[in-house]
Amino acid sequence: MKILMVCLGNICRSPLAEGIMQHLSDEQGLNWTVDSAGTGSWHVGEGPDKRSVRAARNHGVDISKQVCRQFKTKDFDHFDHVFVMDKNNMNDVLNMARNDDEAQKVKLLLGDKIVPDPYYDDNQFEPVFELIEGGCKDIIKELRSLTQPSPKERA
Ligand code: 4NP
Repeated sequence: MKILMVCLGNICRSPLAEGIMQHLSDEQGLNWTVDSAGTGSWHVGEGPDKRSVRAARNHGVDISKQVCRQFKTKDFDHFDHVFVMDKNNMNDVLNMARNDDEAQKVKLLLGDKIVPDPYYDDNQFEPVFELIEGGCKDIIKELRSLTQPSPKERA
């Protein structure tokens, strides 16, 4: 399974989502690849925001070595699922989809809710970590239930 996490800057939310999803899937012995990107290009080449690095570290997740990059159309070729944080990310990524199959890959990380941008509020990084962690756990449950063989197939 190849999963791409997308937000606006790729320095606050999607690096957390990448780190958390990789951590959880590794913990569960899943052979999943997780990456992240931003729809904007301001921070390309930089590491994640220090506040995200700290929030992740407080939960045993190391995101310090990630490097910011911009989302590109070719990402649709490589990834099975593209999880976005909010509706603006959704519109921006959908505008780059070349066909329906690519558009179908794009979903809000939290299903029907958005992950708010914590960039202007230091106090939002911890709650945002928890929101993203909950979303990642739900996604793992959902995708594992779809990909695991049924009891009949296992027999
Ligand atoms: P992110 O947060 O989309 O969660 O990475 C932001 C980081 C930087 C900016 C906007 C959002 N910015 O405008 O520089």
